[in-house]
Amino acid sequence: MKIVTVANQKGGVGKTSSIIQLASGLAKRGERVLAVDGDPQGNLSLFFGAAEGQTFGQAAGQTKIPGFHDLLASIENGKPSLKNSIRKSVRRRLDLIPFTDRDFRINFADDRIRNLKDPFAKVLSKAANFYDWILIDSSPSNSCLERLLVEASDAVIIPLEFQLFSVSGLEASIQEVDACSQECGRGIEVHSLLFTKAENRLNRVQDYRRVFSTFRIPIFEVCKSEYMSRSLEKSRTIWECGPSSNAAKDYARIIEKSFLEIV
Ligand SMILES: Nc1ncnc2c1ncn2[C@@H]1O[C@H](COP(=O)(O)OP(=O)(O)O)[C@@H](O)[C@H]1O
Ligand SMILES: [Mg+2]
Repeated sequence: MKIVTVANQKGGVGKTSSIIQLASGLAKRGERVLAVDGDPQGNLSLFFGAAEGQTFGQAAGQTKIPGFHDLLASIENGKPSLKNSIRKSVRRRLDLIPFTDRDFRINFADDRIRNLKDPFAKVLSKAANFYDWILIDSSPSNSCLERLLVEASDAVIIPLEFQLFSVSGLEASIQEVDACSQECGRGIEVHSLLFTKAENRLNRVQDYRRVFSTFRIPIFEVCKSEYMSRSLEKSRTIWECGPSSNAAKDYARIIEKSFLEIV
């Protein structure tokens, strides 16, 4: 796998946080990474924008910065221009395609997005020649935009919380990935389940582990950690604001085991 989307139709499960830590962690390990903000809310873009000496508000107001929507528009015009949409070196070896059009869902109708699926996948697979990894953040919904992202990917990582409600959400997410696989005629793997905010002291956690293991998808866990909210507040990655925290150790382990395959 090389192009990975982090997806779950539910919000607040740690998609954006995980992209931040996985992308920056891989770059720190010497890998060349492209992070793609595929969520019109632009949280990933705010994180990296605000880190460049701007306030959150300043970063949020920069709607003129080219980003994901410009890439789609350039593909639609028959002149795909990945370069123009990339923000170079938001960290060492880490580039970003930001999402800076907050009105994207109004401006870009579903049928336009649907028509761009194949050419978008082609553009990303070309980009994969220049990077070791392309990690894509997605929004908590189930629309044409998420399908476009998943169908351009080799694999999907599904972040979840240990809750009974997550089971039905997970079933829906797996079905959605299967539907995308069928639509694009290419196997897209559900690579792993990533339990964010894991708390061992919760009584039912063993029960949950048992329930989720029946899906036969590799499971990773990141412990609940105050460093994770601190990371977002301060626009600093976990490697910058809490390198020896347990959450950093958990993400480092995921990077080694599921990306770098160091067992
Ligand atoms: N391991 C963790 N421990 C504690 N809080 C976390 C952890 N991972 C994520 N969070 C918090 O969960 C909230 C939602 O995370 P976010 O990444 O924005 O989710 P999503 O992108 O799925 O909507 C944020 O406030 C974030 O700080
Ligand atoms: Mg998010």
